[in-house]
Amino acid sequence: MSSARNTETIAKLRCIACGATPDSAARDFRCTACGDLLEFFFPAWSSGQDALDPVALKSLWLERRASRDPLDQSGVWRFRELLPHIPAEHAITLREGNTPLYHLPRCARSTGVENLHAKHQGMNPTASFKDTGMTFAASSAHQSGFHWVACASTGNTSASMAAYAARGNMHSLVLIPEGKISWGKLSQSLDYGALTCQLRTDFDGCVRILGELVRQKPVYLLNSVNPYRIEGQKTLAIELMEQLAWEPPDHIIVPGGNLGNSSAIGKALVEMRQLKLISRLPKVSIIQAQGANPFYRSVREFGGKKLEPMTADTLATAIRIGNPASWKKALRVLRATGGEVEQVTEVEIAAAKAEIGADGIGCEPASAVTLAGLKKLSRGGFVKPGESVVLVLTGHLLKDPDFTIKFHRGDLFTGTPNEIEAAETKSLQRDPVVLDASLGAVVAALAAAERTS
Ligand code: F0G
Repeated sequence: MSSARNTETIAKLRCIACGATPDSAARDFRCTACGDLLEFFFPAWSSGQDALDPVALKSLWLERRASRDPLDQSGVWRFRELLPHIPAEHAITLREGNTPLYHLPRCARSTGVENLHAKHQGMNPTASFKDTGMTFAASSAHQSGFHWVACASTGNTSASMAAYAARGNMHSLVLIPEGKISWGKLSQSLDYGALTCQLRTDFDGCVRILGELVRQKPVYLLNSVNPYRIEGQKTLAIELMEQLAWEPPDHIIVPGGNLGNSSAIGKALVEMRQLKLISRLPKVSIIQAQGANPFYRSVREFGGKKLEPMTADTLATAIRIGNPASWKKALRVLRATGGEVEQVTEVEIAAAKAEIGADGIGCEPASAVTLAGLKKLSRGGFVKPGESVVLVLTGHLLKDPDFTIKFHRGDLFTGTPNEIEAAETKSLQRDPVVLDASLGAVVAALAAAERTS
């Protein structure tokens, strides 16, 4: 039977390394046979039985946009035919997804790539891309009857988890590296009522401790090793294809931290091609900060055969990650789509962030690696001027105002080895001017600004 309303999609778990297909997952979401990560797969889609009709699906998803049902209004649950089944009574939604796709005219001019768009995931309810995975995984915690959910985070996962836990009447435990996340993100998890622990370690240290905790206590793990997170995050790519009238771009460029997002986007694209929702795959490229580049090194130095954990350091604190959990899934995405991996410097990130800001969009530092990466990929000829490119902006500008203010004041790199390179970004800086409270002073400032613009 071919249909769109296959609402109880049969999904099974499978280990990405040994192929074991357990009926349920252990509390750390690792394969009990070999310790690697699990993923969902949908047996009916490859058997051809009960296949979904792509034309019917596309019109059903469009119809739902006029619905008043909270699930239909969510940019995640609207696409529920492509997700494992979770009964509606367990769904916790803040109407996540539904994020805009913007043309970036100034960035297009500066990169020479005219067809350049940004999918702005910072426009989600807690202002980062994490909400699309979190609505789904928090709902699965609710379905399983957990009272406590937990995550290790560089700040965005924790903000998102705390919000969804609160909405679902669950308690949440946040482990974050002390002093290494932005105040905006920390303040969110406090306001949403999480038990917030700042550990004297880095993100990777927080992950280790949480892994031990979930094996001992009945706490539901909400990091992106949880395959429900990946399923929810797939909808970013589904929604993007719908916005592009199901005509894939040539390139999608994503920041790489723990590598869950790139894995989810790639999985969605491969599945959409399998279901004939799209006819070809865009190249998915992953960009890391040079100081937090274990995946870049894995691919470039070791041909993807191994990943050497490192001590990560970057001002883009969201991606300050030295031992990314989903690197094997991300590697599969690079290989399946023919994408590239790049690294960019701290100064390149800061400049790219200000350029995205100058297009009236804005984003947090980790998101700006995408534009900095595009510049490198187009200089190297991997992205050609006539091709279409979508940058995934993962977090909102207001997530990390400290970075932005320091950049525009010209002191982001003061006293660091990057000071000389940073001088080149002077023309992008817009330091606030302090004036006497007089009309004359403001008129003079306006005249000076007109002379230089
Ligand atoms: N951009 C932002 C704004 C992020 O917060 C993250 C990850 C990434 C990019 C990288 O995405 O991990 O899927 O490769 N933040 C996580 C957190 C780790 O805890 O908030 P990824």
